[in-house]
Amino acid sequence: MINKGIILAGGLGTRMSPLTKAVNKQLLPLYDKPLLYYPLSILMLAGIKEILIIVNRGQLHQFKKILPEKNNLGIKLTYAEQNRPGGLPQAFIIGEKFIKKDNVALILGDNFFYGQNLTNKLIECRKLKNGARIFLHPVNNPKLYGVAVVDKKDKITELAEKPKKPKTNLAVTGLYFFDNKVISLSKKLKPSKRKEIEIIDLLIKYKNNKKLKADYLGRGGVWLDTGSVDDFYNASDFISTIEKRQGLKIACLEEIALKNKWIGKKEIIKSIKFYGKCEYSNYLISLI
Ligand code: DAU
Repeated sequence: MINKGIILAGGLGTRMSPLTKAVNKQLLPLYDKPLLYYPLSILMLAGIKEILIIVNRGQLHQFKKILPEKNNLGIKLTYAEQNRPGGLPQAFIIGEKFIKKDNVALILGDNFFYGQNLTNKLIECRKLKNGARIFLHPVNNPKLYGVAVVDKKDKITELAEKPKKPKTNLAVTGLYFFDNKVISLSKKLKPSKRKEIEIIDLLIKYKNNKKLKADYLGRGGVWLDTGSVDDFYNASDFISTIEKRQGLKIACLEEIALKNKWIGKKEIIKSIKFYGKCEYSNYLISLI
């Protein structure tokens, strides 16, 4: 069972400059909440309560401002800093003391997931005892992602990072579940041409040991990228459309915590005070 999760929320966000010159991408508004809320909500939906958020060195104070104090969310948040964006598997090296002897989930701070039955899939992945599990999802521009080839039994046979000529349209999404070996395996990785250690190299090690399992969000599942300004606004539009139509919020952290019975009315009231008079608070009032 995985009880710990990491959100990798650093990076330079260069593709979105000048928006990201002064503010980290994960703090920018994806419709009505900071981007960070969305990956955090995914870990919470999975039932993970111990969460490490890794941010760029010097930006911690910004991140601490956007979440309710004293963990009104019923989760245990810790933070760590990354000196420079040296690659996704650095999460496990920086997070070694947090992970200790446990298994761990990693979600990239700029990934958006949504869809029917997602929570059940997440809860299933959390049961991982050994090996690694990833989600694959079809995209029309696989060149921009890690790409997987699978056989008839849905077993991954090949993996490549941003291949010039992708063999499939199956992208590796930014949500990963690993056993504790991930720490020692990450330490052994050598930097790639772009001077980063690569998550795909880590996944290849698991694949070669026959310890990598592919999961699918399915056709009704949604995985959106927030890499470019256009991606960002498209994702914002999607969230706005769904929320306005349903009157339900996507990634309302308190709502998830309440459903998980991690918090009650008292904590929600504290959160309302924290956010102040705003639409998000009105939604929280409607929950209680
Ligand atoms: O989004 C899924 C893709 O994420 C996968 O398909 C790829 O296999 C994987 O390599 C990764 O590709 P990207 O090129 O999109 O990763 P990027 O460098 O943009 O980093 C993703 C997020 O992680 C972003 O919010 C910045 C943050 N980050 C990244 C690096 C390299 C860090 O916080 N620290 C880092 O060292």
